[in-house]
Amino acid sequence: MSLTRKSVWWRDAVIYQVYPRSFKDSNSDGIGDIPGIIEKLPYLASLGIDALWLSPFYTTPNKDGGYDVANPRDVDPTFGSLTDAEELISEAHTRGLKVIFDVVPNHFSSEHIWFKEALLSAPGSAARARFHFYDGKGSHGEIPPNNWNSLFNGPAWTRITESNGELGQWYLHLFDSSQPDLNWDNPEVLEDFKTTLRFWLDRGVDGFRIDVAHGLAKDDIHADHRDPDALTRALRVDSSGMSKEERISLLTDMPFFDRDGVHDIYKEWRKVIDEYSGDRMTVAEAYIYPTSRLARYVRPGELHQVFNFDFLLIEWDAAAIKESIIRVLDELKDVGAPPTWALDNHDSPRVVSRLGNVDQARALALIAHALPGSLYIYQGEELGLPDGELAPKDRQDPAFIRSNGKDLGRDGARVPLPWEASKPNFGFSSGSPWLPQTAAYKEFSVDTEDADQGSFLNLYRTSLGLRKQHTGLGGDSEIHWHDAPEGIVFFSRTAGFILLANTTANTTEVNIHTAAVIIHQSGPGAFIAGSIVSIPGNTTLWLQQ
Ligand code: NOJ
Repeated sequence: MSLTRKSVWWRDAVIYQVYPRSFKDSNSDGIGDIPGIIEKLPYLASLGIDALWLSPFYTTPNKDGGYDVANPRDVDPTFGSLTDAEELISEAHTRGLKVIFDVVPNHFSSEHIWFKEALLSAPGSAARARFHFYDGKGSHGEIPPNNWNSLFNGPAWTRITESNGELGQWYLHLFDSSQPDLNWDNPEVLEDFKTTLRFWLDRGVDGFRIDVAHGLAKDDIHADHRDPDALTRALRVDSSGMSKEERISLLTDMPFFDRDGVHDIYKEWRKVIDEYSGDRMTVAEAYIYPTSRLARYVRPGELHQVFNFDFLLIEWDAAAIKESIIRVLDELKDVGAPPTWALDNHDSPRVVSRLGNVDQARALALIAHALPGSLYIYQGEELGLPDGELAPKDRQDPAFIRSNGKDLGRDGARVPLPWEASKPNFGFSSGSPWLPQTAAYKEFSVDTEDADQGSFLNLYRTSLGLRKQHTGLGGDSEIHWHDAPEGIVFFSRTAGFILLANTTANTTEVNIHTAAVIIHQSGPGAFIAGSIVSIPGNTTLWLQQ
């Protein structure tokens, strides 16, 4: 086992996503905050992660969990103060952790000063030109400029009342009506974002996660889409009832996503990042098809990483897993960017609930932890937390509200974390949590899992500890695939690392043609006789040659 460590930090960093609202509340208002995150830094450092990514904590009316930003250069009082944010950066750095902040360039909140000015200004004014304001169609302008839908259901356009009291222009919002899209053809918008990037870079932030990174450039606004309702369904993570082919055909060549113009914008962003020393980085959130187009975001002179969302949807099936890994590595090889892997985030069902099987989730995690590149972990994933169970009255996601409950939305993955089994609200807050915690969360509390050698938490700690030392994990090195019986994932990497995963329900024997020892396993019951490894069903093994 080699102990040499690798290249620039973000190329194979383990990055832990904090959703501040649900992480830890320090002031009993039932909402997590920055001082709560600072309090839990020792826990985060103990996991063996390299960096934190914080979902937005900026000034916000909170219509979309803070992804509706009213002032990107200040902290919402719910989450603390600017001083708290600065303290978080410096405390994290003291513990050797990098800090990544979210930046939301596709839209502002309708509470942003620019939008308020736009509403008070005349059609055609400079204030309106920062957003997408258009006259409607029809004899009275009563029809929206095009037929696009909001990703949160309903039309992507809202008509305003002009200052003379009459119905007037329409503005575009790909998300909630409280999230007007910015017009990136307007140089003022780029300048303002450069100011925001520098504002946080000056305060020591190590990188940015770019929200809806594929959305900034839009096609001709006057062109209707051939089937906007089907496109909305295809864009939902759980686009159930739709064939894969139909989904991919709808997601290919969308009029408002992944237009060529976005790349000119990121070349400008990159220049700002490169003004700073210290290996600052960017990671793009871009749900696009075909996935081969993701590499365009991480070409030299553009961004550093792009999320690969394959594992948020992957079936527990050896062939599908192998196909995905090979494709993801292949798609990036020409641009030299590292791949990224994620099982969970705040927008998707938690992996344990999605797969409906804890053993499979543990085994899938050990595959993700062993791959080249960077690994993203969503808070609570390390506890094996299932989605919270919520009554309709408790749900707050605009996707739930705008679809009249047809789309359950993402609140299930956002229920506050359980820290201590015996405390009120499992130690998250001494006030009433903003989303009620499920009673079963008690068993998943950090203190309970800490004390249990076989827990999800200790599985993750062992993985991340090994990943820090072993050059065959993370890193840039290649993967060598080996023939294996159906249902088995079998690959090796540098420094004698071997991975075997059994995606079937039955114990299977595999000849690995070498002697090896087990260094980590997602579940019990495996044994080795000579070069024959016997792996129980739904289990992943890490072996050392
Ligand atoms: C992606 C974010 O992850 C999600 O939470 C948000 O609702 C949308 N972008 C809109 O900002």
